Amino acid sequence: MKEDILQQGQKLSNEEIREAARVILNIKNEIKKVIAGQEEVIDSFICALLCNGHVLVEGVPGIAKTLLIKSLAQVTGCSFKRIQFTVDLLPSDILGLTTYNPESGFEIVKGPMLILLSLMKLIEALQKRNLL
Ligand SMILES: Nc1ncnc2c1ncn2[C@@H]1O[C@H](COP(=O)(O)OP(=O)(O)O)[C@@H](O)[C@H]1O
Ligand SMILES: [Mg+2]
Repeated sequence: MKEDILQQGQKLSNEEIREAARVILNIKNEIKKVIAGQEEVIDSFICALLCNGHVLVEGVPGIAKTLLIKSLAQVTGCSFKRIQFTVDLLPSDILGLTTYNPESGFEIVKGPMLILLSLMKLIEALQKRNLL
């Protein structure tokens, strides 16, 4: 799926549309094996993924928000990382950094921003105590 990113304005043939529908249905069916219900939310996530969009997920704890994002990453072969917005967050915690290894030279350690699916989590408890 990742290799088949469309160029802007490019049209799909009927066969390609059928294939895309099949892939989307497979993604949905795999996620439904893990997540009970929440069909509309699952559809919205898949739409956002297809549009290269972003999603703001809000809800009380324990309703499978994190589990859904992790499952979507797993099913689509994307990597997943979480950014915790704590008071001691550094730019390198988001972007990553370059390290030097005497044997192999400079190495880039990718931060969550360079990972395909990033979950940015605001720590509400800290917010409530006015620490954020
Ligand atoms: N709709 C659901 N389908 C499947 N498991 C669920 C569902 N809602 C809650 N759970 C269970 O609750 C756990 C906590 O979910 P989690 O993704 O950490 O919640 P959140 O991120 O919304 O706080 C999950 O690991 C799962 O076991
Ligand atoms: Mg969570």
